Amino acid sequence: MGKVMIAPSVLGCDQGHLAEEALRLQKAGADMIHLDVMDGVFVPVLTVGAAVAESIVRHVDIPIDAHLMVQEPSNLIVAFANAGCSYITVHAEITAHLDRLLGQIRTAGARAGVAVNPSTHVDFLRWVAPVVDLVLIMTVNPGYGGQEHMKYLHEKISESRRILDSNGGSEVLISVDGGVTDSNAKQLISAGADILVSGSFITGSDDPAAAIERLR
Ligand code: DX5
Ligand code: ZN
Repeated sequence: MGKVMIAPSVLGCDQGHLAEEALRLQKAGADMIHLDVMDGVFVPVLTVGAAVAESIVRHVDIPIDAHLMVQEPSNLIVAFANAGCSYITVHAEITAHLDRLLGQIRTAGARAGVAVNPSTHVDFLRWVAPVVDLVLIMTVNPGYGGQEHMKYLHEKISESRRILDSNGGSEVLISVDGGVTDSNAKQLISAGADILVSGSFITGSDDPAAAIERLR
């Protein structure tokens, strides 16, 4: 895999100015924008929909990765794909038909991602390796920014890399999300992370460009 990509989450930004905030993060050196979409059901908080994603897409040139923390993503996939999101990521925990959902994302014209909560195993990656483009390993329980990083999950990153590589998924990107800072970035990269999602460490800092550089 090539060099690590940094994907700031805009969850902690001024929610009334997300497009400007995303542009600011692009100028600070972000490779991708991570948009946390929460439905108030799968996770307690409610955030934004596809219209906001579309506005962000119009303002930036870098890819948008929509992390759908929602119980019923099938109704949203086409809207987020039409909004111009490059990656759409659904949670493994919400569906008995993951393979079908991933297919719907690709058919809609986006790259297909699957997210796994801290307590979710990754054995199933063996059976979706050919139909998935990105695996999002959660290192916090989803729902809020600024939580403590669960370090013992680093083993799950290397395990996922192994499973993907031995089942035709060597091109699948592994992204890590939750409490990512300059104190764990290096270990995450050596465990096999291709993308580091980071919210509060970047957007809560006085100098987001320096924070992004430190993560690299
Ligand atoms: C958690 C979200 C994360 C989070 C990242 O529910 O999926 O993307 O906002 O923020 P930090 O880096 O502060 O944990
Ligand atoms: Zn996220």
